[in-house]
Amino acid sequence: MSLEIIPLSGTLGAEIFGLDLQSGLSNAEFDRVHQAFLDHKVIVMRGQKSLQPEQHKAFARRFGTLNIHPYVKGMKDHPELLEIVKEKEDKVNFGGGWHTDMSFEETPALGSILHAIEMPPYGGDTLFADQQAAYDALSTGLKETLAGLKAVHSASREYGVHGTSAMSRKSMDTSMVETAPEYEHPVVRTHPETGRKGLYVNPAFTLRFSGWSTRDSKPLLDYLFHHSREERLTCRVRWQAGDVTMWDNRCTWHYALNDYPGHRRHMRRATVNGDKPF
Ligand code: SIN
Repeated sequence: MSLEIIPLSGTLGAEIFGLDLQSGLSNAEFDRVHQAFLDHKVIVMRGQKSLQPEQHKAFARRFGTLNIHPYVKGMKDHPELLEIVKEKEDKVNFGGGWHTDMSFEETPALGSILHAIEMPPYGGDTLFADQQAAYDALSTGLKETLAGLKAVHSASREYGVHGTSAMSRKSMDTSMVETAPEYEHPVVRTHPETGRKGLYVNPAFTLRFSGWSTRDSKPLLDYLFHHSREERLTCRVRWQAGDVTMWDNRCTWHYALNDYPGHRRHMRRATVNGDKPF
């Protein structure tokens, strides 16, 4: 086995060459992919054009159990896989804002694995931002202020009637969104596998600090949201059809760019369940 791992930016992300997800990974290959995932937080596995839903799920299951999204319907025969499609005529896209997947759940996602089925002729990249590097870059005083704080997360705002998620008008079951539960997570999260600390708030699903009003929370949350997506903390995945990208939702944000009007983009996502943040 010879895998080549090439970083995508100075902070996070790497391309891995030499993998065939269709035929499954040996334990040794999986160990290297897992380590690359922990090291780089976003891994891009090129050229998996014929990856089938069963093979996609089999790869995802190497990392844990699969999530069934509470609001977005999955594929008919594969409820664990979400079809993320922007049709030519659609104006808004799914994931078109900085977020981390499923932080609105009590036990949010470990990671997501996205397979590019059809790409527009240009654009449609995904941006990622490293929330551990974002935490490291804060001053000691602000780190101390954030240390004991928790924040409230919910899907109600993003996926509700006034939310920006395009899927809410398509394959999303919005009936439950208005009453979506709220869950508290620590603002500074310790990664369960690496022990590194990172910020764990995001613009889509974090509503306020626990015990603070929305109004009181806004200035500090806005500061963190601005800080956490500074260019030096990011990488960009420029997709080709067949690529598979996996990201660590415990320590990254992502943003699906909507810069290909009049063209179709079709992705398929598996989401791996994680554990309760601490
Ligand atoms: C997502 O937010 O899961 C979708 C990302 C993308 O389509 O690039």
